[in-house]
Amino acid sequence: MESMRIQIIAVIGLVIALTNLRGAESRKVTVPDSFEYNGINCRAHSASITDFGGVGDGQTSNTKAFQEAINNLSRVAKDGGSQLIVPAGKWLTGSFSLTSHFTLYLHKDAVLLASQDLNEWPVMKPLPSYGRGRDAPAGRYASLIFGSNLTDVIITGDNGTIDGQGEFWWQNFHKGRLKYTRPYLIELMYSDNLQISSLTLLNSPNWNVHPVYSSNILVQGITIIAPIKSPNTDGINPDSCTNVKIEDCYIESGDDCVAVKSGWDEYGIAFGMPTKQLIIRRLTCVSPTSATIALGSEMSGGIEDVRAEDITAIHTESGVRIKTAVGRGGYVKDIYVRRMSMHTMKWAFWMTGNYGSHADKNYDPNALPVIQGINYRDMVAENVSIAARLEGISGDPFKEICISNVTIGMAAKAKKVPWTCTDVEGITSVVSPRACDLLPDQGPAKITACDFPTEDLPIESVKLQKCSYRRNLLV
Ligand SMILES: *[C@@H]1O[C@H](CO)[C@@H](O)[C@H](O)[C@H]1NC(C)=O
Ligand SMILES: *[C@@H]1O[C@H](CO)[C@@H](O)[C@H](O)[C@H]1NC(C)=O
Ligand SMILES: *[C@@H]1O[C@H](CO)[C@@H](O)[C@H](O)[C@H]1NC(C)=O
Ligand SMILES: *[C@@H]1O[C@H](CO)[C@@H](O)[C@H](O)[C@H]1NC(C)=O
Ligand SMILES: *[C@@H]1O[C@H](CO)[C@@H](O)[C@H](O)[C@H]1NC(C)=O
Repeated sequence: MESMRIQIIAVIGLVIALTNLRGAESRKVTVPDSFEYNGINCRAHSASITDFGGVGDGQTSNTKAFQEAINNLSRVAKDGGSQLIVPAGKWLTGSFSLTSHFTLYLHKDAVLLASQDLNEWPVMKPLPSYGRGRDAPAGRYASLIFGSNLTDVIITGDNGTIDGQGEFWWQNFHKGRLKYTRPYLIELMYSDNLQISSLTLLNSPNWNVHPVYSSNILVQGITIIAPIKSPNTDGINPDSCTNVKIEDCYIESGDDCVAVKSGWDEYGIAFGMPTKQLIIRRLTCVSPTSATIALGSEMSGGIEDVRAEDITAIHTESGVRIKTAVGRGGYVKDIYVRRMSMHTMKWAFWMTGNYGSHADKNYDPNALPVIQGINYRDMVAENVSIAARLEGISGDPFKEICISNVTIGMAAKAKKVPWTCTDVEGITSVVSPRACDLLPDQGPAKITACDFPTEDLPIESVKLQKCSYRRNLLV
């Protein structure tokens, strides 16, 4: 009896103590004293957004606090660089710009909430390789997290969240009420040595991650989620970029999970900057109306040396998809994909030579894209409606297509003709169901015929360092 009374009193005491502790915590933001993360470079200086008047109540705008913090920290770019910590809380903000030798770190319970006040979104000129905005001919809203002409930038966290609150933008887009192209969540342009890792991105107004005219880029451990019907919520779009690694990402969205790009029609041809040396590894994609990995449709600067391996697609429209058109010019060549597993797909393989969708009427009808050297091997698919729909361009066939060791399980309600091919050339080996006559079967001796490079890309040798944060306010 006595011991039970003591136990009850002890439990009540504990509950009271815990309640007090919670109360105290909710009154002020606790900035952790120390933590560790992996980075391409570590930083000498640290500050918290709260040092610059940031308020994590989900209501107060922090746009000025972010911009002041980053402007302030840019002073030490050449003195060991800096990291800005965003503690637990809901941090409402419009667009802000990063600086070089800089890390933005989101605590696991930190949520950046994108503002819905259009005054918080500066308008920028269209990208030179696109000539116009994707949604509207005029300018485009700067991305939530933006950077240009930078080097050595990390955006990371302990799986902290960036919430684009896209519903507002999607509605206005559908109603034709936006004067400018919707913002992306993260865009870095003309930049070098970039790391975007360990974050969850929700409900982007438009594309999620857009590195453009940039090189040496690591994207790792990102979860991207948007409603499967949300417009243009592509996951990761490397665009006119060199030496890029995307790995260990989960993407579920309303558009392509990864879309590799390099500019649009005559603007992309004139700009002439390809995307090349890209590896995509251990990606899981759910995108019922789009592709797991799209190449194009904006590919006018060229796409070259793309490798993808250990890719899983679930309930997705297509696996790897090439999208192009007369007038695009450019090329898609030396593409290597292996070890892909696909479940419930409309098409396992899809190539589209008549995608259309031109920037304007001034495209050059003689600018034919070159599609060449497309290698797919070691794949299994199940519950697929159509194995492949491969449509090249009349007078400009897609060449050197190689597909080997691929087993496609057809859905109960599959189309009667599993393969349709026009204007394509290449071979197959050990592919079932049997491919179209334009890709003749070479027999089992060629089961390993389709290439996959054995040498690593330079980005694979980038080693991450263990970085730590200790509270040391800048004064
Ligand atoms: C950024 O870099 C690009 C390409 O090098 C250059 O054209 C542009 O003028 C630079 N912008 C600024 C603000 O320095
Ligand atoms: C990050 O958070 C998302 C959303 O809650 C979750 O689905 C994902 O598994 C988390 N990732 C890691 C590595 O913890
Ligand atoms: C097969 O795909 C159909 C859609 O084409 C889907 O309704 C069904 O649930 C899938 N079956 C399995 C076993 O995944
Ligand atoms: C064929 O592909 C499967 C994976 O789908 C793989 O396990 C197997 O080793 C491959 N066979 C050859 C001969 O490469
Ligand atoms: C920002 O930089 C100035 C020096 O220009 C410094 O005086 C100030 O304390 C810094 N920190 C904050 C929180 O404003």
